[in-house]
Amino acid sequence: MRWLMFVFVVILAQQISSTLVEDIRVRGLIRDWAPLVWLAPGERFLPLGVPEFLDNMQAADNYLQTRTSLQSLLQNRSSFLHGRKPADNIPIYALLKNCIMNSESLIPSAGATMTKTTISPSNNLKKHQLPILNAMVDDFDIKSIESNNVPGSGVSIEKLLVSSFKDRRLSRSHGSHVIPVNSEISKSHILHEKILQKIKFHTQHPLHFHVTYWMFYPFSEGKAVCVLDLGILGSWPIPSLGGTCFGRLKEYGNHVGDWEHVSLYFKDKNYPLAMYVSAHDAGAFYRYEPRSGTFIFESQETRKGIFQKPIFPERVFTAEGSHPILFSARGSHGLWTAPGKHKFVRLPRLYDESGFGTPWPTWRKVELLSIHDKHVMPEWMNFTGKWGNPKSNCHPLTKLGFDICEFVDGPTGIPMKKMNFRC
Ligand SMILES: *[C@@H]1O[C@H](CO)[C@@H](O)[C@H](O)[C@H]1NC(C)=O
Ligand SMILES: *[C@@H]1O[C@H](CO)[C@@H](O)[C@H](O)[C@H]1NC(C)=O
Repeated sequence: MRWLMFVFVVILAQQISSTLVEDIRVRGLIRDWAPLVWLAPGERFLPLGVPEFLDNMQAADNYLQTRTSLQSLLQNRSSFLHGRKPADNIPIYALLKNCIMNSESLIPSAGATMTKTTISPSNNLKKHQLPILNAMVDDFDIKSIESNNVPGSGVSIEKLLVSSFKDRRLSRSHGSHVIPVNSEISKSHILHEKILQKIKFHTQHPLHFHVTYWMFYPFSEGKAVCVLDLGILGSWPIPSLGGTCFGRLKEYGNHVGDWEHVSLYFKDKNYPLAMYVSAHDAGAFYRYEPRSGTFIFESQETRKGIFQKPIFPERVFTAEGSHPILFSARGSHGLWTAPGKHKFVRLPRLYDESGFGTPWPTWRKVELLSIHDKHVMPEWMNFTGKWGNPKSNCHPLTKLGFDICEFVDGPTGIPMKKMNFRC
């Protein structure tokens, strides 16, 4: 009885120390790969830590609202609304989603574990999931082989990989090409030939998570649009002729509270497989190439609005061998992968400008938010309302669908946003 207890304690200790080691490793990777964000030259609205922002806000009707008038805060260049220059004091919030802990099919076997992908192969090949699939295909590592995998009705990718791996081994030792007996497998075997070629063994602990780095700015500047004043009908956008506005420039779409993000996807390697960069309602997937130490453009998506299709550069460079270098657009803080002028809406023509203003080495202050650990979640992660004042100074014809405002609603917070990677 006593030795049984001893065995139990030893196993427990091993479990604890291995999760601790994994925890340290994950935290290290999150820090090492936190981005270097260049704030734009002439930026007037800098980032801020959430607690200081909340000290200056009050909650009402599902909105966080400034305690004093927006106009007076905007005029006062030292008000909290203008944020702070990021030295080592402004945190970036890293939301961690660990795919292994969450996996329902974590199978411990003889000191090794294997995670099962529950998405069926056909689903996995859907076009919109390709960036993630590609990333996984490039570095598909399997730790241990479960010998009792009987292909059922829903054959998982993992099972396919396992079976085919056995076949490949067989074929190698017999010097001839062995076709799997099971017809279900053989069909998919041909389909996934490319994937299967990438299989290799790995001796490290499995590692599988994605992390979203969130940056917070107290205020986001809208865009100046050339308008013509038509009295009670309000102002109407008119095209600028030859770059000259013959009406009046008016700023639309300002808002209090601004969340911006970039996500990284890790699996088994000490570098991310993929990155998602978000600018306004569009975003781009990049794949990491360890040989060159750069991220390479893979695909892009428009989350909302048919007019948004910005051009993303082919490569994203890294600082100090890991930190992706990103650029926060002046005023709006949309994240771009290169300095310069970025057209992000075609109608009306709206541009973002970014460049080498002030560097923000975000890894100096990373605050970890873990989906699995309620204790490390700050209270504000529970807020589901809007992070800024309600819209104001809207067009007189707003009710007829001409919905443009000088100040728009604040955005929703982190828990309300969709994740760009799935496990
Ligand atoms: C501007 O803001 C700072 C910081 O909140 C405050 O101390 C100062 O009194 C404000 N100035 C004016 C003129 O309101
Ligand atoms: C946040 O909400 C959850 C569930 O609704 C609750 O268990 C938790 O205590 C809340 N956390 C804080 C800090 O209020």
